[in-house]
Amino acid sequence: SDIEKGTYPHYMLKEIDEQPLVMRKIIQNYQDDQGNLTIDQEIIDAMNDADRIYIIAAGTSYHAGLVGKQFIEKMAKIPVEVHISSEFGYNMPLLPEKPLFIFISQSGETADSRAVLVKVKEMGYKAITITNVPGSTLSREADYTLLLHAGPEIAVASTKAYTAQLAVLVILAEVTAKRRGMKLGLDLVHELGIIANAMEVLCNEKEEFESIAREFLTVTRNAFFIGRGLDFYVGLEGALKLKEISYIQAEGFAGGELKHGTIALIEEGTPVIALATQESVNLGIRGNVQEVAARGAYACIISMKGLEAEGDTFVIPEVHDLLTPLISVIPLQLISYYAALHRDCDVDKPRNLAKSVTVE
Ligand code: G6P
Repeated sequence: SDIEKGTYPHYMLKEIDEQPLVMRKIIQNYQDDQGNLTIDQEIIDAMNDADRIYIIAAGTSYHAGLVGKQFIEKMAKIPVEVHISSEFGYNMPLLPEKPLFIFISQSGETADSRAVLVKVKEMGYKAITITNVPGSTLSREADYTLLLHAGPEIAVASTKAYTAQLAVLVILAEVTAKRRGMKLGLDLVHELGIIANAMEVLCNEKEEFESIAREFLTVTRNAFFIGRGLDFYVGLEGALKLKEISYIQAEGFAGGELKHGTIALIEEGTPVIALATQESVNLGIRGNVQEVAARGAYACIISMKGLEAEGDTFVIPEVHDLLTPLISVIPLQLISYYAALHRDCDVDKPRNLAKSVTVE
């Protein structure tokens, strides 16, 4: 590849480290001369006109979509559904009068997502593509494109594209909300600046995450990620990262759902990685940690400053509570990276996977 790794042993580590820079680039690229966040008027009109938004994506981009739904619903007050692209064709929901489709795709080439785009365009609906690749198929075939400005992502496991997708989604939500006359009580440019700084702090804590990976994930066959609210979605992404590159069987669960089945899998020493960044559910997730610990689980707790408890494994810096996924994912990316490294896996090119999947 013509993109150099420089002094980095792997593209994945380089791309994890690029996240603060990408965040600042996104803020710049989506700002007008007055310093306000801005997006093409036509795109915001399309958002504003929609009675329901459908986010369509695969893999990591689908996980970004789950968080994006929360941004759009909470800020812009438009109902959102999130669908896995490969399933959308068979399980097509009943569409309202004025649906708007948002395709999230790092590569802009995922065939499963393209198949849905072709279908909804045939049906006469409008589509936005959020992608890292200008001129990609999904970008060309949609009505509008929002770019990630993340620079080429080479490692198969997506990292900086995920956080870039979240940033673009929250900017889209904010600009739409303003257009709809909503008072948000949050200065997003300022909050995203705090995010960039917090990302930097986390990227400077690599030894911590290396030792967490060594302690929790060197010998195990499986691992669970639990969280409530936004933390649940980040747990899904954490589990996917770990599966993809370390081949450890990993699953993400909603804390409250554990008791309905998954808790049966907890054995002596099973690693459970819990996220605790949401004040409203902190008690609940702490309860889940106790439940699994009482059954022998080896709990790794990643909490946020202000919500931490004694014995937490790692505490991330405090950021706006809607934006925690932008930084809580970084420990999970780094823990997965070091787990894969210690298990002698091919970090950048895991077996059986491709960076962009152009077959359905
Ligand atoms: C492949 C990659 C994943 C990625 C997914 C969606 O399966 O291995 O890392 O998340 O495709 O890719 P996209 O380019 O559409 O975001």
